[in-house]
Amino acid sequence: MTDQVLIFDTTLRDGEQSPGATMSHTEKLEIASLLDEMGVDIIEAGFPIASQGDFDAVSEIAKNAKNAVICGLARASFGDIDRCMEAVKHAAQPRIHTFIGTSPLHRDITALTMDEMADKIHDTVTHARNLCDNVQWSPMDAIRTEHDYLCRVVEIAIKAGATTINIPDTVGYTIPRESSDIIKMLLERVPGADDIIFATHCHNDLGMATANSLAAVEAGARQIECTINGLGERAGNTALEEVVMALKVRQDIMPYATKIDTTKIMNISRRVSQVSGFVVQPNKAIVGKNAFAHESGIHQDGMLKNAETFEIMRPADVGLSGTSLPLGKHSGRAALRAKLEELGYELGDNQLKDVFVRFKELADRKKEVLDDDIVALMQDTGSEGQNEFIKIKKLRVICGSEAPQTADITLEIDGEEKHCTAEGDGPVDATFKAIKTLYPTEARLQIYQVNAVTEGTDAQATVSVRLEEDGRIATGQSSHTDTVFASAKAYVNAVNRLIVRRTKSAPGVDTKEVKYTDAG
Ligand code: KIV
Ligand code: ZN
Repeated sequence: MTDQVLIFDTTLRDGEQSPGATMSHTEKLEIASLLDEMGVDIIEAGFPIASQGDFDAVSEIAKNAKNAVICGLARASFGDIDRCMEAVKHAAQPRIHTFIGTSPLHRDITALTMDEMADKIHDTVTHARNLCDNVQWSPMDAIRTEHDYLCRVVEIAIKAGATTINIPDTVGYTIPRESSDIIKMLLERVPGADDIIFATHCHNDLGMATANSLAAVEAGARQIECTINGLGERAGNTALEEVVMALKVRQDIMPYATKIDTTKIMNISRRVSQVSGFVVQPNKAIVGKNAFAHESGIHQDGMLKNAETFEIMRPADVGLSGTSLPLGKHSGRAALRAKLEELGYELGDNQLKDVFVRFKELADRKKEVLDDDIVALMQDTGSEGQNEFIKIKKLRVICGSEAPQTADITLEIDGEEKHCTAEGDGPVDATFKAIKTLYPTEARLQIYQVNAVTEGTDAQATVSVRLEEDGRIATGQSSHTDTVFASAKAYVNAVNRLIVRRTKSAPGVDTKEVKYTDAG
């Protein structure tokens, strides 16, 4: 019989921890419901003690969950654990996930001896188990923890009532053989190991997160922790789509089943990219724009004769439609709705109205509106019901070989029209300076990224902008056939998000402020 591997998604906790990926409350609820629908077994919905916002999101997700277990994170303290339970208790199937850093480096930081830490683990896991039947415990930085001590603390956590033991490679340091050996060692050496589930939680600092997760499964782990698009701290986490598709494609040598409906992968990947502001790199496995593109003549020829020659999975397996019939300026609302549905977007009438207006504007500028154009249109963060405090009314730039390049812009700021002209080192610099003159902020530009959506000189550019102000980070995305205008819109979208964020939290009251090393 095929073994079941549980999929634990932590996009809303570990994924959201990556700088700039902060999602709004509504966005978190939407992603949680997509995860639930696609068959994720456990959703780690957040870190309830970190902020009121996180607490509210976890509580609400817990209330709405249909099938998934809803889990919250808690450090090794009674206060954290109680707060976590308060939030997850609304779920039909709640889980508390508590952790402490067990490697020598982390023991140093917490100033606990091995014995003191062992006692703390016993006490906190016991406390969690008294509140909830479903308790996960993680020795953070397990991979760099002495093996004897790791076995000792895992045994303590199991005896104290943990039902899942997660083995994190917190710094993405391990390799597949070691990942597998550690799980085997724990299964062999720890009394009671057969009665609980081992989980694997890998970060991608050396690019081996997916391989390490699969190696752990082959050794006996039965829960994979992952995020959509591999979102997460630094180089990110194991990508859900990669492990799930690897298990599906290589049933011959990895006969493990998951409950994931893989046809929902593309849609959720796009949504996470959109709400987190993290553009998926074109050559990313499974969900990248080029993952199913065939450029060379030999490959194209092979594909036409038999798709299996160069494709190990079908685009439809991950929710991509094989055919791409372009829309044009004569296409109506029904055709657009059908195309959106085919691409996995379900919109209400008002949303469709807004997208249709922007689709028509695009179709006027571009002869053929391709699938990727529609996706880019949907990723314009300005159309997501954000509070549009600032709107661009008009932009004209002068650029070319002769400096200075100049931007002439009219903005509507809180209902009032303002105009200004600024010079800069290139048209984008001039435009950003003009916006800053009309709406001064201390925000620092951290990322400015441009990608062409399709081929050709009339292709849309998708621009991502990330701003940082007082530790708050906001990203904006926009697409347009005019790269400078797309840049201006992305910048304004990011500023609008920053304004919303300012009103929601005083500086320093963000999730990022709770340091995981502080296990007190
Ligand atoms: O990477 C890590 O160690 C974590 C823990 C909190 C499980 O995310
Ligand atoms: Zn992690």
